[in-house]
Amino acid sequence: MSNPVRGDGERDGGVGSSDPGRTAGRAEDAAPGEVLLKVTGLRKHFPIRKGLLQRRAGAVRAVDGVDFEVRSGETLGVVGESGCGKSTMGRLITRLLEPTAGTIEFEGEDITRLGVRGMRPLRRDVQMIFQDPYSSLNPRHTTGTIIGAPFRLQGVEPEGGIKKEVQRLLSVVGLSPEHYNRYPNEFSGGQRQRIGIARALALRPKLVVADEPVSALDVSIQAQVVNLMDDLQRELGLTYVIIAHDLSVVRHVSDRIAVMYLGRIVELADRELLYRAPMHPYTKALMSAVPIPDPRRRKDRSERVRLEGDVPSPIAPPSGCRFHTRCWKATTVCTTAEPPLEELRPGQQVACHHPENAVDRAPRDSGVAGTAQVVPTRR
Ligand SMILES: Nc1ncnc2c1ncn2[C@@H]1O[C@H](COP(=O)(O)OP(=O)(O)O)[C@@H](O)[C@H]1O
Ligand SMILES: [Mg+2]
Repeated sequence: MSNPVRGDGERDGGVGSSDPGRTAGRAEDAAPGEVLLKVTGLRKHFPIRKGLLQRRAGAVRAVDGVDFEVRSGETLGVVGESGCGKSTMGRLITRLLEPTAGTIEFEGEDITRLGVRGMRPLRRDVQMIFQDPYSSLNPRHTTGTIIGAPFRLQGVEPEGGIKKEVQRLLSVVGLSPEHYNRYPNEFSGGQRQRIGIARALALRPKLVVADEPVSALDVSIQAQVVNLMDDLQRELGLTYVIIAHDLSVVRHVSDRIAVMYLGRIVELADRELLYRAPMHPYTKALMSAVPIPDPRRRKDRSERVRLEGDVPSPIAPPSGCRFHTRCWKATTVCTTAEPPLEELRPGQQVACHHPENAVDRAPRDSGVAGTAQVVPTRR
């Protein structure tokens, strides 16, 4: 994360009070910039069963052939509309779901087929933060029990005992050690997500997959939680995969961004490149939907692309390029041949037969829509 959003409200306290040397210990194995996670040909098809005999009648192709790497210390943002397979992908890389095909390598080791025993060390290294801080915390458990659970599950006894470590984690995420005996319903949404973050960080993971970590929160609170995650990343040497349906959330915190559409990555690029000159029409359409906070820049955006219709069913995705049914640039080739994800510019991979901004004319302003053909918004 290099350019965090700064909210106007309270600054997130407590991070500096932790002992960074001690806490960062486990994350030092992979040098910054080295590949931590490598995903190849990853697929997850959920079978659909019908009738009394529960015969297999097709499958939901939630993730359908995805390749990417995550380097140590970076933040990869993953965006796309609802139903594009982002959560399934997050659950696959944290091994909460079994892949249908493909491989997942962590620190160079193939972890795709590891059993429960083989996964044990990995359960410490890879953690997940969930979208909904209301349903992801057991209402009958105290904060102390919730954040202390990973230690008990893994049989880890922290120095000074679990209670002391949990209280330290509470202050690391900007809560008070006195919150130890409180229940989730005594906290606000933002505070609950801080509890979720503390639980995810308890075992000092290397990789944290956050599935829409702020989507359920008030917009005014979102920046605070994102800033906290950003501070923690620097402090603890974490690597993040942050999933969001909204480009505005990942914009400020991602080093690279993967855009998903119907189970595939359609564009994967360095953040600056993606915002300055998106190449996939779908990326461009998603960006047009992002509100621009500065009204002076709004008038520059008279040409906006509007995404019509819904994401087609992942049970029978469109032939060729899956986006062709909604794309204003689609031609015959788009309906028959699936474009491969190719590096069209250094640091920018795109899967499109007719990419936008193919000639780099370096548009002046980052939120401005590109220079290629644009369909004016129908109003
Ligand atoms: N356990 C499941 N069984 C069947 N279909 C599923 C399951 N989980 C997700 N899906 C389907 O897979 C597709 C992708 O879902 P998901 O990964 O949740 O997308 P996103 O997080 O991008 O909204 C959706 O069509 C969803 O209905
Ligand atoms: Mg999701």
